[in-house]
Formats: sequence, C-alpha cells, structure tokens
Amino acid sequence: MSRKSVQYICQECGTSHAKWSGQCTECNAWNSLAEEAVKQVTPKGLSQRKGRTIEFVGLTGKTARAPRLVSGINEFDRVSGGGLVAGSALLVGGDPGVGKSTLMLQVAAALSSQVSCAYISGEEAIDQLRMRADRLEVSGTSVKLAAATSVRDIIATLDDPKGPRVVIIDSIQTMYVDNVDSAPGSVTQVRTSAQELIRLAKTQGFCVILVGHVTKEGAIAGPRILEHMVDTVLYFEGERSHQFRILRSVKNRYGATDEIGVFEMGGGGLVEVSNPSALFLADHDDNTSGSAIFAGVEGTRPLLVEIQSLIAHSQLATPRRAVVGWDSSRLAMLMAVLDTRCGLAMGGADVYLNVAGGLRIAEPAADLAVAAALVSSLSGKPIPAGTAFFGEVGLSGEIRPVTHSDVRLKEAEKLGFKNVVMPTRRKSGKSGKNSKKDTQNTSVNVIELSHLSDLVALYGTTEMGAQTSPPSKQ
Ligand code: TYD
Ligand code: MG
Repeated sequence: MSRKSVQYICQECGTSHAKWSGQCTECNAWNSLAEEAVKQVTPKGLSQRKGRTIEFVGLTGKTARAPRLVSGINEFDRVSGGGLVAGSALLVGGDPGVGKSTLMLQVAAALSSQVSCAYISGEEAIDQLRMRADRLEVSGTSVKLAAATSVRDIIATLDDPKGPRVVIIDSIQTMYVDNVDSAPGSVTQVRTSAQELIRLAKTQGFCVILVGHVTKEGAIAGPRILEHMVDTVLYFEGERSHQFRILRSVKNRYGATDEIGVFEMGGGGLVEVSNPSALFLADHDDNTSGSAIFAGVEGTRPLLVEIQSLIAHSQLATPRRAVVGWDSSRLAMLMAVLDTRCGLAMGGADVYLNVAGGLRIAEPAADLAVAAALVSSLSGKPIPAGTAFFGEVGLSGEIRPVTHSDVRLKEAEKLGFKNVVMPTRRKSGKSGKNSKKDTQNTSVNVIELSHLSDLVALYGTTEMGAQTSPPSKQ
C-alpha cells in the first residue's frame, strides 16, 4: 500500500521532519526545511516465495585490474588515485567560483584525445562554455558540449554502449527528474538525479563526474547524501583572494585518500604546481621575528609552509586570539603548555596566528613550528634563516614523534634548508615513526628536541625567562 504525503526535508543535512519548524532539530540550521512530496511505500516484507541462493567465493581469484584513464594533468591523476576508472562515479565539490568548471573542462579536453568525453552543463550556455574553452586554449579538442538539465533526456542520450566514456555533469544541483515533485537542487532531486546517472554509468561502463557546490558549512548541498553513493569524493578548495587551489581526495574506492593536488589559477586556467613548497615560501622573509617554517606532509606529499605569529599588547579586557589556517583550540592548548611548562605567559596579550598563503593545516605535527613562531614573536628574535620545524607537542610539554619524518627531511634538504628541528629520534623504529634509521641519510643539520623548554632555550631570550615564572617540567 502506498500513500502520498508531505515531508519537510532539511536542505542542509537531509533529515526529514513530519512538521515544519524554523530550525532543523538535527543540524540546527535555520530556515532550511523545505516541503517535499514523498511517496511513502510501506515495506511489504518477504512473502512465501523463496529467493535464489547466492554463491560464496574465496578472497583470491582472477580480477581484471580496472584500466585507468590518465589525463596527463598529473595533479588531477594523482588525486583521483592514478586516473579515472571506467564505470565509476566521482564527485567534485567546492565553493562556487573556486574553479570546478574550469578544472573539469581542462580534464575533459586532456582526455578527449584518448576517449570520447561529454561535458553537460546545466549552469552555463553553450556560448559561455565556448568562451571559456577559448580562454583555456582547448577549443581545438573534441569534447562534446551540451547544455541540458533534464536527467531523462541525458539518460536517453547516454544509454548507448558506443556513447562517451567520460561524462561530466556540471552541476548536479541543476539537474532534475521530471516525475519528482520538488525543485532542482532539493535533496530529493539531487539524490534521485545522482542515483539515475550513477546507475547508467555502471551499466554502460562510463565514468561519470558529478560537480557539486558546497554550502557555507562545507557540506555538498543536497548535503552529504551524495558522498556514500559515489566511488570517489574530491574537494576543490582555495581562497578567492589567493591564486592557488587545492584538490583534495576525501574518499576513494580506487586509491589513497588525503592526497592533494595543487593548482594555480591564472589568466589561461588552472596550471599545475609541481613544487608547492616553493610557491608557499616565495614571499618568506628570513629576518622577521614570529615566523617559522613548518615541514608538513599532505597525503604522501611534503609541503613546506610558513607559520606567522604576532603577539601584541592588548587593549581589551578579553585579549583577542585570531587564527587563520589552523585550529584555534590547538593554539589555546599550545599557549597553555608554553605557560605552564615553560613559564611563558601570554594571557594578557593579543595573539594572532596565520598560515601564509591561505593554506589550512590539520596535522598535529605543526605544533612545534607554531610554538617556535610564538617563542620568536615573544622574544623578538628571528628564527635563524634556513630552519624548518616539525613535531607534535603533548600536554606535559614533551615533543612527540610524527609520521613521515624522512619525507619531511628530504623536502627540507631539497629546498636548501640547513637545519631541521624535530622530535628526538628512536634508535630503531618499530612503528616506522621517526626512527633513526629512516632519517640518518641527510645532509641537513638535525636538531633533536625532547621538551618544549629546549625550544624556548634555543629561540627565546634570557629576559623572557626572567619576566615570567620558572618552568615546571613535571
Ligand atoms: P569556475 O570554473 O567557473 O568556478 P566554479 O565552476 O567552481 O563555480 O571559475 C570561476 C573563477 O575562475 C572565475 O571567478 C574566473 C576565474 N578564472 C580565471 O581566473 N582564469 C581562467 O582562465 C578561468 C577560466 C576562470
Ligand atoms: Mg561552475
């Protein structure tokens, strides 16, 4: 028995409510409930009819390795796990205007010399797309363009084994299925459209790339509902005020996650950045206090970035803490550790922290570099030129080992750094973390620290210790 009823679905998180209210009880978003007609089907349960038995097989067996479509745009290929897989579905999310359509057109153009590629846009007219193609200098390639939004029409066109092998849908929020009674962009429409397109991609064996806008909260609008349906989820990030863009893989059934690709947005589209560290360090000035270089790793990729801090006398009753590109609660923790364990009180001062270039760092390994920037800012002494830092700081002030020490050291060496300040290395590394064996073949001068007070002794000043309470190491 089926019954037609109305539900109120939150456009931010996808939760359905029986009644309308001003705020979603699940994600607390305001004014996000929209009325959608939902055909409710009461589950019937299994009747007397018996099903067929399924067959079990072993874990080993002959599996054809999925052939990859390699675009030649290295940064994209690496993030997608070594190229696109036939019959797979990819979701590319990002803020409006970050460059998703530009990247997709470039990828389609690069692949069109090997296979037939279709680019279906629901947002732009053919003329606009052609103008962009001109600007990207790809007008000569054989990408098939179409401006369409009806999923029924798109499926009728693509339901052909000789059809395109790569299909880009830009964007999934503009697509609609005509027998669903809700507006394009609503949760039900986005979900149904994606389901239909993915089903066709699996049966016809083409790779479908769905472009999706993210909301200000960072979820793909029509929210995270698409993430479990697709094989790969890539996010395209970047500040509009900065030129570089980062393509990050957050889910990949065919490769590693946390992989990043770095691009630079220029007049002629997105250009790959094969040496991102050089880009992030380009404007670094060696002679300013409060700046330290962090030897980071994103995915499998080393990335050196500058961390800047400023400690200023506060005019306010509650001093300001402003953090860009890092976790503000992590900064609070680090300041508390510097205060309690090393006697460096910053309680009455405004503290500003900035990851130069607009990058966001999530690694705990950045603790030591942030601490160094803070200590240098407090002492007014610049960190000696050519020094990079990495290491996690614990609550007792101990400096803990982090993963990929060898990769970090190698990158610092490659970029001409002379000193690397890092956690004390173990003699033999059972866990592979920070072992001496991995990191001994390096020409950089390695400074090993075991406690944060050693860092203060290195980069602080004697007056700094005198004006604050004595450190306690317990
Ligand atoms: P676009 O790919 O349309 O973004 P999205 O599809 O994610 O909404 O890119 C939009 C921005 O990129 C736009 O502000 C203009 C800029 N841009 C360049 O700077 N150079 C270029 O060559 C192109 C094509 C776009
Ligand atoms: Mg677009």
